[in-house]
Amino acid sequence: MQVETKVVPSDVLKRVRETVDANDRWRSQTINLIASENVLSPAARSVLDSDLQHRYAEGHPGGRYYEGTKYIDVIETLAREAMERVFQAGWADVRPISGTVANEAVFSRIVPQGSPAIAHTVAGGGHISHARIGALGKRTKNILSWPMQADGYTIDVDAARDLINTEKPSIVVLGRSLFLFPEPVAELRDVCRENGTRMLYDGAHVLGLIAAGTFQDPLREGADVLNGSTHKTFFGSQRGVMLTNGEDDKLNNKLDKGVFPGSSSNHHLFSLPALLVSALEVEAFGSEYAKATIGNAQALGASLAKRGFVVSMPERGYSASHQVAVDVAPYGGGKDVSARWCEQDIVCNMNLLPGEPGKNAFNPRGVRLGVQEMTRFGMGPDEMDVIADLMHASVEGTRDVRDEVKALRARFPEVRYGFKPEDLS
Ligand SMILES: Cc1ncc(COP(=O)(O)O)c(C=O)c1O
Repeated sequence: MQVETKVVPSDVLKRVRETVDANDRWRSQTINLIASENVLSPAARSVLDSDLQHRYAEGHPGGRYYEGTKYIDVIETLAREAMERVFQAGWADVRPISGTVANEAVFSRIVPQGSPAIAHTVAGGGHISHARIGALGKRTKNILSWPMQADGYTIDVDAARDLINTEKPSIVVLGRSLFLFPEPVAELRDVCRENGTRMLYDGAHVLGLIAAGTFQDPLREGADVLNGSTHKTFFGSQRGVMLTNGEDDKLNNKLDKGVFPGSSSNHHLFSLPALLVSALEVEAFGSEYAKATIGNAQALGASLAKRGFVVSMPERGYSASHQVAVDVAPYGGGKDVSARWCEQDIVCNMNLLPGEPGKNAFNPRGVRLGVQEMTRFGMGPDEMDVIADLMHASVEGTRDVRDEVKALRARFPEVRYGFKPEDLS
């Protein structure tokens, strides 16, 4: 039989290689301040590309729907045990392929259709998966917003307790995308229990800080479920995780079904060994890293304020996490300024500021800056001051800073707080 061979234009094939390489090169020369990202260690990267790219493993180790999983079972068991150890959790599920999928798994099993829920608005820093148009909205449109204090960031705990008593929501969601300070978990625990309300703490952003014990401890403070992305301050591969204290079997079973078969089948096995290596790195280096990260965020906030930027929440020291929020309306607003910085190889995203109306989402006053990636490359407070100066010079238009960005970044080529590939042999 004659097999027809289609000619693929070789220039397109070549472009794939070139474009991936160009992105690698460019990103290694930028100051990346996107708060939801991080980089893997060389050790974690070394186990990303394997035969696991090709495999399936539905179910749990020892109880699969597929044959051929004996080595996958070892990795998944070790990963689950490591996550339980790191978070002192009685139960963990490492199969969600992202933080959103973990959230969906929770909502799908513990939010009855149409029941009341309370979450942050996107303007209040909440994530789109907590919104009517996101994962929670697939279960209920009856999503109420947390009542806020005048600063637009801090939850008004008394008003929140009243709201829970009146509405008796099936779920409340704490945790946000603009996440500067801990949430009132302990303060709201009792009122939730009295009303049969489940508390989900979405720790996507601050998971690495929680693991290190440097932010807050949601499971001990009273959250029923701690969800997160494993690739932001928890510097692992791009996945999600669900954690509980393990005491409520009925809850654990519901969450388990929420992940599979509820919201995933193949759970992207190729990235599981990298998550395992990263979890071991968090155990070994996480505390030092998290302290450096928070210190850098506070240093960047102070350095920007010193240069006349309006940094959010000065009365609380700008931040207790990896992020700071900055009002750049005097320079044209978040959309324009983040684009101008990106042209100068300083990468961040526009963001609504605390209390800013949601209708401004496409052209907000603010930007959100995260220091977790530059911290992983070993930068400290001195470098935060240099970055603030580069950002200032660039928006003031006093100089082109691209060469300075490149020179600063070149001084920090290696990922710290991690293992080397040879440590795995
Ligand atoms: C609070 C919060 N939850 C969930 C997510 C979604 O995480 P993922 O991108 O892993 O789906 C994000 C993303 O940044 C987030 O900020």
